[in-house]
Amino acid sequence: MQICATIPEARAAGRKARASCKRLGLVPTMGALHEGHLSLVCAAKAQCDVVAVSIFVNPTQFGPTEDLARYPRQFERDCALLEKENVDILFAPSVDEMYTKGEATWVMVEGLSDRLDGRSRPGHFRGVTTVVAKLFHVIEPDIAFFGQKDAAQVAVIRRFVRDLNFPVEIVVCPIVRELDGLAMSSRNAYLNPEERQRALVLQRSLRCVEETFRAGEKNAATLIAAAKEVIAQEPQVHVDYLELVDPDTLEPIELITGKTLAAIAAYVGTTRLIDNAVLNP
Ligand code: PAF
Repeated sequence: MQICATIPEARAAGRKARASCKRLGLVPTMGALHEGHLSLVCAAKAQCDVVAVSIFVNPTQFGPTEDLARYPRQFERDCALLEKENVDILFAPSVDEMYTKGEATWVMVEGLSDRLDGRSRPGHFRGVTTVVAKLFHVIEPDIAFFGQKDAAQVAVIRRFVRDLNFPVEIVVCPIVRELDGLAMSSRNAYLNPEERQRALVLQRSLRCVEETFRAGEKNAATLIAAAKEVIAQEPQVHVDYLELVDPDTLEPIELITGKTLAAIAAYVGTTRLIDNAVLNP
């Protein structure tokens, strides 16, 4: 695995792969890799000739009171995992490499960036889209792989790729869960054993939405109320949002007539977790 710390190195590595007509895949990550990330790497290995992974804890997508400083950083362990998966290129830049001082240019998707996580975390999606645009410019992948767990992020990225005509195909891979159903996330490491148990209520609430929907209920308010009753079983879990939205526009839906995203974000202790399910009539 070629480890690149600078933009010129990573760009040269990407261009070398593409020059020999190879399909280049990129898996952007913030490190602290788990099975969810590795499933993206697996998908990339299956669909591409050369696979690049980026590890960059992007400061611009964290709010001033968020967990940037304590976000898990496990570079050696991550490298070993990626070596084992036969990843070809690892781009692991420093903050100074990615952001010049006084930077004034941002990529921002209007509207979408203020919904779901964007509403609770102002500026978050501006940081995500800006860094992903930078990664696309540096690596120049043919395909980029993202996880469905970050469904709002997927919608925002798809839109900016379309709006700015990036020649990158976006592939979205299913949520990977722990055996007990908790969606894998680097932030799960923050949970103590009690919180870890309580966190299962996120998926239980989504299952309730799915089952009630399958039983014939199409009214979003009724489905949300049912899910909230499940969440209420864990009074120490505080819902940030629980919404049924259009998966592309993230606009709330009142009556389900087409593909709908049931999305939840909740605080378990001080840890903010997200999860979602797609309802498909
Ligand atoms: O999903 C993530 O880990 C991050 O938001 C991403 C896409 C790597 C951008 O920093």
